[in-house]
Amino acid sequence: MKKLLHVIATPRGDDSRTLRITEAFLESFQATHPDWVIEELNLTTEELPSLNTRRVDGKYVLLGGNELYGSLREAWQEIISHIERFLSADAYLISTPMWNFSIPYVLKHYIDIIVQPRYLFRYTEAGVEGLAQNRKMVVITSRGGQYTSDEMRPFDYQEPYLRMIFGYVGIRDIEFIIAQPTDMGTELQEEAIARARVKAKALAVRF
Ligand SMILES: Cc1cc2nc3c(=O)[nH]c(=O)nc-3n(C[C@H](O)[C@H](O)[C@H](O)COP(=O)(O)O)c2cc1C
Repeated sequence: MKKLLHVIATPRGDDSRTLRITEAFLESFQATHPDWVIEELNLTTEELPSLNTRRVDGKYVLLGGNELYGSLREAWQEIISHIERFLSADAYLISTPMWNFSIPYVLKHYIDIIVQPRYLFRYTEAGVEGLAQNRKMVVITSRGGQYTSDEMRPFDYQEPYLRMIFGYVGIRDIEFIIAQPTDMGTELQEEAIARARVKAKALAVRF
């Protein structure tokens, strides 16, 4: 069985516009990929380990090219579990709204936890090597505004950041399904979500 890890970064549950698109993707994905399991990680309900002094100390040990030892390794247990859970997946689905032109803080928190030297990337003589290669990612997102014009595109720190950080760890096959604008009237919102749902279903079939 292959595994799709579904990472949720909106706290809005049944009211979420993003998850309405995700629902269409998953319905179509389950029908066309019966050999895949889908595991859900809801970042808004699951408590993530904080990056306190001790845990950040561990990061510098790893950055220095050393192994974690003793109490530092203990302090890192939850972080390592999240990294292992991330690496146990063959593909990822991220459901996230745009928040302040970027991603909600829970998703940034998750990224700060899992993107670790020795685990998700390593330094080689040829440069940085991502250790999560050969995995696909789909990002389903909705935005209150519209970021398609030349004037507005520079405000979008969400898509470029997610492409960069997951590309850094080796995931280069990333497709975005974007619904926008969702906060400029019900008509535009419903049209945007309907268009995104059609795209999401088609993407799930050819995934
Ligand atoms: C804290 C917060 C910040 C937001 N920041 C932005 C923003 O910078 N740009 C934007 O277009 N929409 C912004 N929005 C609107 C959401 O992106 C939009 O309503 C989205 O469709 C919500 O998706 P959801 O229902 O799945 O959570 C923000 C919403 C919240 C709650």
